[in-house]
Amino acid sequence: RKPLRVALLGCGTVGSQVARILLEDAENLGRRAGAPLELVGVAVRTLDARRDVDLPAGLLTLDADKLVEDADIVIELMGGIEPAKSLILRAIEHGATVVSGNKALFAQDGPALYEQADAAGVQLSYEAAVAGAIPILRPIRDSLSGDRITRVLGIVNGTTNYILDQMDSTGASFADAVKAAQDLGYAEADPTADVEGHDAAAKAAILASLSFHTRFALENVHCEGITAVTADDIAAAAEDGYVIKLLAIAEILTDDAGAAGIGVRVHPTLLPRTHPLAAVHGAFNAVFIEAENAGELMFYGQGAGGTPTASAVLGDVISAARRMVLGGPGRTETTTGHVPPLSIDTVRTSYC
Ligand code: HSE
Repeated sequence: RKPLRVALLGCGTVGSQVARILLEDAENLGRRAGAPLELVGVAVRTLDARRDVDLPAGLLTLDADKLVEDADIVIELMGGIEPAKSLILRAIEHGATVVSGNKALFAQDGPALYEQADAAGVQLSYEAAVAGAIPILRPIRDSLSGDRITRVLGIVNGTTNYILDQMDSTGASFADAVKAAQDLGYAEADPTADVEGHDAAAKAAILASLSFHTRFALENVHCEGITAVTADDIAAAAEDGYVIKLLAIAEILTDDAGAAGIGVRVHPTLLPRTHPLAAVHGAFNAVFIEAENAGELMFYGQGAGGTPTASAVLGDVISAARRMVLGGPGRTETTTGHVPPLSIDTVRTSYC
């Protein structure tokens, strides 16, 4: 098969891992995609910046425009609105499939970008934009499309979950917990977007739009962060059997006349300690969905980090490639040979 030409825009924490895996695992990825995936270039802002992964120097380019015009699949991992948006539109114009992890852009312009992609007949996916490694957008968009989602509750910001969890488990103050999050590299030097809830609000807008088949922009999301939460609040909640979590909530609101609209909000929430989301500790993310027919579902995993997020990006790439090559999702690979059953009566896990 003719290789699919893959262009990568951005080589930060996630982009560098995507490039590494594309190069190191090329054979397996190509087999699963139905055609070799050839990384033809990585667009960067400066050639001499320090990077997490050493890439062949010939791959790096400053000319993102040209790279996009020459690709079958464009992976946008630059973040921010511009030039990411113009480059995605350019890729769509050229008929390239687009994969992105850009939560800010899709929270603001997702529906418009989708329209452009649909009009041009190209695929556009952004699984990595919400909750890192957790497969959540495709399950909502595809697997649950025959159901009616009534409520989505998400822990979609790992930094704030870590901070609140530290306060809950050690009695730490907000300031000390933020410092611990920074020391571990979870929170940025300026953790404003995390602690003020803005990062979670962007993800809430995307989750709500897909769950309720409508348009929610960032300004439709009521947003309150965790900066006012004190150690006393956490202790009082614990005494009553609750834990405080920063939740992204999107739900059908009802009044006496029936469904009255859809509320989308992010704020510190009192959650009973028996709720499955209360068991989400540290910097992990989880999304809890209530649907009319499926009932309750929960998706759990790492919401940030280079390799976990790269997993979501590459899943989108393979899925898009399969449709390009085979005109459909492709056949599941089957294991050949005999796998002997094991008799084990305990599961070995890091949770023991
Ligand atoms: N700052 C985000 C978090 C990173 O802490 O979850 C992933 O969007």
